[in-house]
Amino acid sequence: MDVAGGHGLLAHAMLLLDDSSADAIVVDTSLPPSSARLHAILAETWPRLSGRITFMSARVEEVDLRSSDIVVSVHACGGLSDVVLDRASSARARVAVLPCCHDLDVNDDGGLAGWIDRPLAVDVVRALRLKQRGYRTWTQSISDDITPKNRLLIGEPRDL
Ligand SMILES: C[S@@+](CC[C@H](N)C(=O)[O-])C[C@H]1O[C@@H](n2cnc3c(N)ncnc32)[C@H](O)[C@@H]1O
Repeated sequence: MDVAGGHGLLAHAMLLLDDSSADAIVVDTSLPPSSARLHAILAETWPRLSGRITFMSARVEEVDLRSSDIVVSVHACGGLSDVVLDRASSARARVAVLPCCHDLDVNDDGGLAGWIDRPLAVDVVRALRLKQRGYRTWTQSISDDITPKNRLLIGEPRDL
């Protein structure tokens, strides 16, 4: 499940890099008009993507998530990353987010802003909250040449 997925490039990359998922669903409230065209072009180069990606115009708050899902989300803005983490962890699904656009009026910085950069504090709180919900977590950073909003939080239920 590539949520707040836009064109769904991450869904495509996930299936290409790890073929163990049968299919992928891209969920976004506002799917870009070019997403179908982009999918067609990618499927021309990698025919094994054909017919395996569904685009769903929906809110992440409403979509049905299951424990067998892998829920991924790149740059779900502000509090949307929290919604993704909450929904995925309620379903006991594996999850990975790369948050962006931290909303410092809304996102919880855990009172850590006196010591560390506030967006970082928000992401630390997110990682700890996921841990408290019974998840094993991994924190990584991707190259900031790709994006300056590059903190990757990965979690899987400890009882999986
Ligand atoms: C910054 S874009 C990221 C798109 C894509 N993941 C990427 O990295 O290119 C955030 C996306 O979230 C979508 N979005 C906003 N609110 C949403 C919601 N409640 N449920 C699902 N998608 C939402 C927007 O339509 C937009 O495509």
